[in-house]
Amino acid sequence: MACAFQRRLPAPVYLGLLLGAVCPQTVEVEGAALKSEGALESGGAVINHSVALLQRLEALLAQGNGSDVVLRVQTASSDEVKVIQAHALVLSLQSEVFDELLQSRNASTLVLKESPECATVFDKFIRYLYCGEIAVRLDQATPLHKLASRYRVWALQQGLSLYMRQHLASDSPGGHVVGWYHYAMQTGDAALRDSCLQYLSWNLSAVLQSAEWGSVSDGLLMTLLQRSDLVLHSELELFEALEAWIGQNQPDGLTVENALRAVRYAMIPPQQLFRLQKQSPVLLKYHESVRDLLYMAYQFHSASPLQLAKYFDVNCSLFTPRNYLSPAWGSPWVINNPTRDDRSTSFQTQLGPSGHDSPKRVTWNALFSPRWLPLSMRSAADFAGVSFQKAVIVAARQQGRLVVRHVYNFHQSTEETGDFLAEADLQRRGSEYLIDGSLHLHIVVKPLYHSLIVSKK
Ligand SMILES: *[C@@H]1O[C@H](CO)[C@@H](O)[C@H](O)[C@H]1NC(C)=O
Ligand SMILES: *[C@@H]1O[C@H](CO)[C@@H](O)[C@H](O)[C@H]1NC(C)=O
Ligand SMILES: *[C@@H]1O[C@H](CO)[C@@H](O)[C@H](O)[C@H]1NC(C)=O
Ligand SMILES: *[C@@H]1O[C@H](CO)[C@@H](O)[C@H](O)[C@H]1NC(C)=O
Ligand SMILES: *[C@@H]1O[C@H](CO)[C@@H](O)[C@H](O)[C@H]1NC(C)=O
Repeated sequence: MACAFQRRLPAPVYLGLLLGAVCPQTVEVEGAALKSEGALESGGAVINHSVALLQRLEALLAQGNGSDVVLRVQTASSDEVKVIQAHALVLSLQSEVFDELLQSRNASTLVLKESPECATVFDKFIRYLYCGEIAVRLDQATPLHKLASRYRVWALQQGLSLYMRQHLASDSPGGHVVGWYHYAMQTGDAALRDSCLQYLSWNLSAVLQSAEWGSVSDGLLMTLLQRSDLVLHSELELFEALEAWIGQNQPDGLTVENALRAVRYAMIPPQQLFRLQKQSPVLLKYHESVRDLLYMAYQFHSASPLQLAKYFDVNCSLFTPRNYLSPAWGSPWVINNPTRDDRSTSFQTQLGPSGHDSPKRVTWNALFSPRWLPLSMRSAADFAGVSFQKAVIVAARQQGRLVVRHVYNFHQSTEETGDFLAEADLQRRGSEYLIDGSLHLHIVVKPLYHSLIVSKK
């Protein structure tokens, strides 16, 4: 796959480079179920009643025949006790924690103290120990994961982690990804934590408008605010969501200050900044804390960023765009039948986000080729001190919803991203990157400024 960009202002210059990557061939092995392990030779056969065996084990648990241990599951908050007739052999076989508890017990009853949410799914958990199978809902994932961790049932724990990573986009009334992120932080599950963070970063607009935004912790808020790869409509949208978060959570002054200082005010047009400065209650209250940042933002808007860069250090996050979806920054591009032939599109963006540059337009040509193209590069004659980083956002359908599946960054220095759509497998009709046969891209053009002075340390 290749993607190329060409800028047409002020003179047509090739920025472009095309990078391609060959889709790896996947070989599906079918009929792997048939194993020839000697038994099938010379008239041998497998007589297989494993399903019936599982049913008998399930019935054993349900009816409690031959039970040699009673589990009494209690919660601190209620008198209700759940009683399960179990079998020491099965529990010990599946969990080393049960094994120790059973060896050290001196009665036929084991009293287990659990949180209310874990007590609710305890039956399901024990049934898994007998049958090796479990049906999970979104709201049951963390309590089951807690039980699996606590009783050291590793296969179940890993299965639940994977389930969570694969169901970030599922629809739930109050949202679940923020809760899963906090849980992953508590338990040190780095893979789950990173998946949640990426989902939240790339689908931030949807999250900001959802009920779960208010439940974001101080730590997660700061982690998100510091990222440059957030995909959202505009910096103003982020500021307004931050105001709502502050209103709902009423954090201490230091937290508010830190959060407000992570907003990239220079990316908000000056007309909107004036309005915020006069009308936002949070900004009125904390004006002193962000005064210097607002001052720098107005300086940025009043001149060309390149002039600014001669005198000030512009290589800081205040002047670094995120992946904004609003029209000044780029354009959506839906490509029907992407494997058919080469396609091109053209669109305009602002020359830059400063008040000085935003009325000026740059026209871009983007080329998409499904064939593998060799890399060819020409150094671009460009404005000293600015480079245009392009991000290509690829949406896909997951659990029926449109989500950002990937963000590819193309840097001007190389115009290259070797893995562009490498795993998309667009030839396959069922590729999750295709929505009704089309590839849904959104191209964002981000001017990045370089300081022209060497700042004194
Ligand atoms: C026995 O049958 C079950 C269910 O049909 C199947 O999943 C399992 O792989 C079979 N086992 C063998 C050894 O063929
Ligand atoms: C449990 O016992 C009952 C009667 O004592 C019997 O009907 C039933 O088949 C038994 N269940 C199993 C799984 O052995
Ligand atoms: C075992 O029995 C002793 C004395 O009967 C009792 O003090 C102790 O708490 C019991 N231990 C457990 C684990 O139930
Ligand atoms: C993910 O983001 C895309 C665009 O940013 C949005 O259309 C979609 O609704 C979001 N999906 C979810 C599940 O939030
Ligand atoms: C900008 O700052 C970052 C870290 O603060 C540094 O890694 C990078 O090299 C700087 N870039 C330029 C062009 O000065």
